[in-house]
Amino acid sequence: MTRDPRFDILFEPIRLGPVVAKNRFFQVPHCNGMGYARPRSHAAMRGIKAEGGWAVVSTEEVEIHSSSDVSPYIEGRLWSDADVPALALMTDAIHQHGALAAIELVHAGMCASNLYSREVSLAPSHVANPGSYAPAQARAMTASDIRDLRRWHRQAALRARRAGFDVIYVYAGHSLSLPMHFLQKRNNHRTDEYGGSLENRARLLRELIEDTKDAVGAHCAVAVRFAVDELRGEDGIGAQSEGREVIALLAELPDLWDVNISDWSHDSKTSRFAAEGYQEEFVRFVKAVTTKPVVGVGRFTSPDTMVSQIRRGILDMIGAARPSIADPFLPKKIERGDVDDIRECIGCNVCVTGDHTMTPIRCTQNPTMGEEWRKGWHPETVPGRSGEDTFLIVGAGPGGLECARVLGQRGYAVHLVEAEKDLGGRVTLEARLPGLSAWARVRDYRLTQLRRMQHVEIVRGSRVSAGDVLEFGATRTVLATGARWRRDGIGRTNAGPIPGFDERHPVLTPDDIFRGARVEGPVAIFDDDHYYLGGVIAEKLRAEGFSVALVTPADRVSAWTDNTLEQHAIQKRILDRGIDVHSNRNAVDFDGNRLTLACTYTNRPMTIAAACVVTLTSRLPNEELARALSATPDAVRAAGILSIESIGDCLAPSTIAAAVYAGHRYAREFDRPPSDEVAFTREMPDLGL
Ligand SMILES: Cc1cc2nc3c(=O)[nH]c(=O)nc-3n(C[C@H](O)[C@H](O)[C@H](O)COP(=O)(O)O)c2cc1C
Ligand code: SF4
Repeated sequence: MTRDPRFDILFEPIRLGPVVAKNRFFQVPHCNGMGYARPRSHAAMRGIKAEGGWAVVSTEEVEIHSSSDVSPYIEGRLWSDADVPALALMTDAIHQHGALAAIELVHAGMCASNLYSREVSLAPSHVANPGSYAPAQARAMTASDIRDLRRWHRQAALRARRAGFDVIYVYAGHSLSLPMHFLQKRNNHRTDEYGGSLENRARLLRELIEDTKDAVGAHCAVAVRFAVDELRGEDGIGAQSEGREVIALLAELPDLWDVNISDWSHDSKTSRFAAEGYQEEFVRFVKAVTTKPVVGVGRFTSPDTMVSQIRRGILDMIGAARPSIADPFLPKKIERGDVDDIRECIGCNVCVTGDHTMTPIRCTQNPTMGEEWRKGWHPETVPGRSGEDTFLIVGAGPGGLECARVLGQRGYAVHLVEAEKDLGGRVTLEARLPGLSAWARVRDYRLTQLRRMQHVEIVRGSRVSAGDVLEFGATRTVLATGARWRRDGIGRTNAGPIPGFDERHPVLTPDDIFRGARVEGPVAIFDDDHYYLGGVIAEKLRAEGFSVALVTPADRVSAWTDNTLEQHAIQKRILDRGIDVHSNRNAVDFDGNRLTLACTYTNRPMTIAAACVVTLTSRLPNEELARALSATPDAVRAAGILSIESIGDCLAPSTIAAAVYAGHRYAREFDRPPSDEVAFTREMPDLGL
């Protein structure tokens, strides 16, 4: 394909102070659970982004000093010279593909736990860390502390230059750094020249920019990441007030403004809560206030939207974290005219869960994310065929589709058979629920690829039996038959069935809701799943006019979505829509009219009216086909079948991301010799032995 000339503007070079970005694509800082702990994995992941065409590829937050230790989170580290070689691995990987390497220097101030370093945390004024219940406070910085901080930042900038970085950030975003804490009236109660007026509160930010320019400005671009709006009204920085004033005050000092909104949950909003380009209303003033290039974000995956941002004078560079995770080759695909091949981010924030669980990043759309070094997986290329195997894949949900796509890309003949008329399995069903329409991209990307593959045949509306598998004659069978929700209440909280959760009473599961089963109000939703689905079904039924109560044994709605940054927004929406929330309550009995609940602490009972219960506790794998086939090993052998393997939810129900990963992994690894070795390369500590 050739590039659409409409998109040419995206490939214009942009000068950033002393360096030049080759195009307008900027991978903004994003953490990844690898950081300082797994530098080779980190470098390989960033190198792939550079290969994919991003003109600038940035680190995540990089701690500049041991008093900025954000343990247990795994970010970048530049505490001393000893950290330079690990970061140089990353800059080398980026430079190999002609991109610029950027580093986000951060002192996290009161947000640093210092659990590893055991230093005392620093803040403009004495304060308890607002983001944790830890029984520790940060202390107010003295004038000498501020001098120390400036020296540490300067040293970090010099070390960053030595590590090979071309763009060096001063960070005042997300309410996660000292310059931002100094700017915030609510956190800065100082009476010296760093407190009071905005000019005083911005003094530290100004000084850090000036120091950085002085230290490295002749060779490196100095960027500022600044949250122009905290979405806190009077209590915070706002785009129409101090956000604008800060940019006006420092307008020409940095070489680049990277502007966004705060806190992180607002900045990285999921597709359930915001559409592509959602930050425009906050950042559109910036270009009117500075002549320096401006980069901004907003889950940009559409080249038309990107062009529009530039043509309308909102941004100069297209910033992306999640779109670059879902598709590291997004710029290259636009450049080559392969826009249909873009693997668009679905806005689920599974990528954020890696950071929150301190494990390497993962992505629903891009199963190779985080696996670039430890497994050698590339997002665009796969090894060729290693033999003459043919494949029958039963089930065209996320796992089956990905498995077929990658086997097809490897050159194998594949038959993909789906029992339902619609392809996509759970993503197709869930994408019909409120706020989840973007999830259909998991299916659509894969179908676009599969439809181009002559050697992949897709059959729908055909339920496969064990006899069909034996007759079919493929050498390998992959079962991707998914899972179904339990009706009996067994799950995390209840090891046995809940009395009344059976066929005699109106107890529905999400599968019934997907099938359009009749619902009677008032409805009680028992959510012992704790991810998104309980809250989404509550929203749907409320929008249909039912009176809805959401019961959860957790202390809050959709508790696991803390890890996707959504919990607060979900609970707010649930409460705003008039859904009753009963948290810390287990469901213990249902008589068809009333649901009895018990306090998870005291067991004290209470009852609520419920003409129908929707229960989300756990799922059961659809393993009937696997069982039937394993009962006839001789027939399987006689049919010439070399392997039958279950992947994804039909093996053990989990996330969509896990199903996609399982499909991808099978397709890459089915032909590897069996081994007891760890399935990936680990980065071991250097014992100097
Ligand atoms: C997994 C993940 C990690 C992030 N880590 C950082 C970080 O270390 N520093 C930072 O300034 N922003 C971080 N962000 C915010 C992004 O830079 C970006 O501003 C935000 O995700 C919105 O852009 P997007 O819609 O292109 O993802 C992170 C975002 C994600 C999704
Ligand atoms: S995990 Fe979800 S939100 Fe994150 S990059 Fe992948 S598709 Fe996008």
